[in-house]
Amino acid sequence: MTEKNYQEIINMTTNGVYVIGSKNKGIINGMTCAWLTQISFEPMLIAVSIDKSHYTSELIKKSGVFSVSILSESQKDIAKHFGFQSGKNVNKFNNIKYEISSNGVPILKDCIAYLDCKVVNFFDIANRILFIGEVLSAGLKQKESRPLIYRYYDYF
Ligand SMILES: Cc1cc2nc3c(=O)[nH]c(=O)nc-3n(C[C@H](O)[C@H](O)[C@H](O)COP(=O)(O)O)c2cc1C
Repeated sequence: MTEKNYQEIINMTTNGVYVIGSKNKGIINGMTCAWLTQISFEPMLIAVSIDKSHYTSELIKKSGVFSVSILSESQKDIAKHFGFQSGKNVNKFNNIKYEISSNGVPILKDCIAYLDCKVVNFFDIANRILFIGEVLSAGLKQKESRPLIYRYYDYF
């Protein structure tokens, strides 16, 4: 089996779709992410894999905090908005409704729910950084909505 085939199989694993909010000094940014998972219950820890070249990696490394906005089934357009352009070139929060968490990180107003995290560890792996975040606070905004499930072919 070739690497391409492996990828086709891995695409069968299920993930949600999230917007990772980040900040540094006066700057805020958001990035779509599917490679996120819970890794511990007590303490409540999550892991998120972010490409080193993304602006988000730089901001999280500098500030040590990030948020996770959980997208609903109706927010595929939001996933594309935050996933196909870089905050290096554009302010992605222009014309997007957001709030600032107690960590000072942006959270989408229309998300299903959010997590507010501080980085407790990170690992340098290939061209990625695996950030381990401890959840410091969280909120449920839309109990009735269903989360957006990541399907590779919806985006690429
Ligand atoms: C549906 C979807 C899921 C994505 N998941 C990830 C991911 O898990 N990790 C990652 O590094 N990039 C992921 N990306 C790509 C980034 O969102 C994209 O490169 C973004 O422009 C980076 O923004 P930034 O430079 O402002 O940080 C995803 C993109 C899409 C559309």
